[in-house]
Amino acid sequence: MVSKITVVAPSSTANLGPGFDVFGLAVNAFYDEITLTKKKAKGVSIVTEDDIPTNPDKNTAGLVVKNMIKKFKINDGIEIIIKKNIPAGYGMGSSAASAAAAAFAFDKLYKLKLDGNALVGFAGIGEKASAGSIHYDNVAASILGGFVIVKTDPLEIIKIDPPANLRMCIAVPKLKVPKKKTKVSRGVIPKKISLTSSITNLSNATVIVVGFMKKDPDLIGKSIKDVIVEPARKHMIPGFSKVKENALKAGALGVTISGAGPSVIAFSKSSGDLKKISLAMSKGFKSAKIDCQTIICKPSIGAKIKK
Ligand code: HSE
Repeated sequence: MVSKITVVAPSSTANLGPGFDVFGLAVNAFYDEITLTKKKAKGVSIVTEDDIPTNPDKNTAGLVVKNMIKKFKINDGIEIIIKKNIPAGYGMGSSAASAAAAAFAFDKLYKLKLDGNALVGFAGIGEKASAGSIHYDNVAASILGGFVIVKTDPLEIIKIDPPANLRMCIAVPKLKVPKKKTKVSRGVIPKKISLTSSITNLSNATVIVVGFMKKDPDLIGKSIKDVIVEPARKHMIPGFSKVKENALKAGALGVTISGAGPSVIAFSKSSGDLKKISLAMSKGFKSAKIDCQTIICKPSIGAKIKK
């Protein structure tokens, strides 16, 4: 009988510009690791050396496991060991990766054989702990890998394999982020938007999907344009406009905020351009007196059992 399982799940970037809460892309920059162990004593306990909540009700993985225990009437207690590698609060799907790994691991530990949509549904519950509301873009990417489209009501995830030559550079600024950053950055988005803005974003989002289907990084890159959320959030990222301008000048195909930020992501199809792009992004942040870490990465596969 299996009593213990370890799963790793990748970082991810959400939105890709116009696809707010709908698009996600798994990226191979970092992986969170979750180990679930069945315990005789009931309840969920969290063991971690990272600076994250250990109260299961306030922890993304804890919330997921508690919900799954209840839903599947499991009589064991469960210990969750969390090793966070994805920097938390920087727009790289850190909370989602732990939630995704927890749902994936629970499914395997109890041989539930849930499909991708069900797993994403459970993992999404974890996002409530950090974002204040449920959204599925990051967890879907982290579980399934590749590029994902979230269709809601009922929840259905469509996955498309990204172009083999798609590359990204993520600039992670060394900024102090608010504790509930995602909640704060969701709060600045306008409640009402004009029909013109909605048409522009819909058009760009549609072309991004076509770009992924045709495996065409140029089509994807030139449609990474968001006239709704990015303008409302960019004031939270000092130097954003310069970072974007510099990256585009250095050859990036498209540039936007990664998820809820403050990281900025640039897309490219040529590994040769990426060094130039990463330098250009660093200089952009430097103009606002901010240091940043740049990570050159590519799309990742989804969550998997660590052997
Ligand atoms: N779509 C979400 C947002 C992702 O932009 O708020 C947060 O990680």
